[in-house]
Amino acid sequence: MPETVITIDGPSGAGKGTVCQLVADRLGFHLLDSGALYRLTALAAEIQSVSFDDVEALADVAETMSVKFEVTESGVATLLDGKDVSRAIRQEHVGMNASKVAACQPVRDALLQFQRNFVQAPGLVADGRDMGTTVFPGAAVKVFLTASAEERARRRVLQLDQAGNATDYDAILLDINERDRRDMERNSSPLVAAADALQLDSTEMSIDEVLEVILARVEEGS
Ligand code: C5P
Repeated sequence: MPETVITIDGPSGAGKGTVCQLVADRLGFHLLDSGALYRLTALAAEIQSVSFDDVEALADVAETMSVKFEVTESGVATLLDGKDVSRAIRQEHVGMNASKVAACQPVRDALLQFQRNFVQAPGLVADGRDMGTTVFPGAAVKVFLTASAEERARRRVLQLDQAGNATDYDAILLDINERDRRDMERNSSPLVAAADALQLDSTEMSIDEVLEVILARVEEGS
């Protein structure tokens, strides 16, 4: 039986990361956090002092970096060229730089096959912006998860507060709007729902409600 692929796309902060992890845990599926690959490319470029305007050099960074996801007792560690960068890639400025490198088609081309190689039995939950449209157009179940920008900013502030970081709601909202604009307006794989995706607005839904709707959809599709 072929592996089942479930794609969950949507803008920053819609809750995709948490939902994908829960869906993968419930089904015993593997997980692809494609945003981490763009974050890793941005971090590697920063470390190598590559200009964010030099598209070919950025693609070269994406092609040559060595990436490993290692399961540890405290979760999944992300290794870049052998070094644990799990925390470093989550910094706000790395996310912003990731959205710049993600707008370069050669970078997207360099990461395409790498992402497809994550498909493994019994199945994969793929988290991103173009999973259902470009990377896995034949996925069995596609979800497009959104929430209002204000609600996404509120959730991000809560997350940062809980981690003991100083936060500024207005700055985070600006950041979210800027990233949405860049992701939606770019020419290469812009953020858009696949025609056959289930569209879910989670603004007034709990994570558990979102999870149950997605699992019901998977059940219907299998
Ligand atoms: O999901 P996350 O915020 O970690 O992604 C970082 C950035 O990578 C996003 O803002 C987006 O610009 C880019 N990205 C993308 N395509 C994906 C996943 C992420 O363009 N499939």
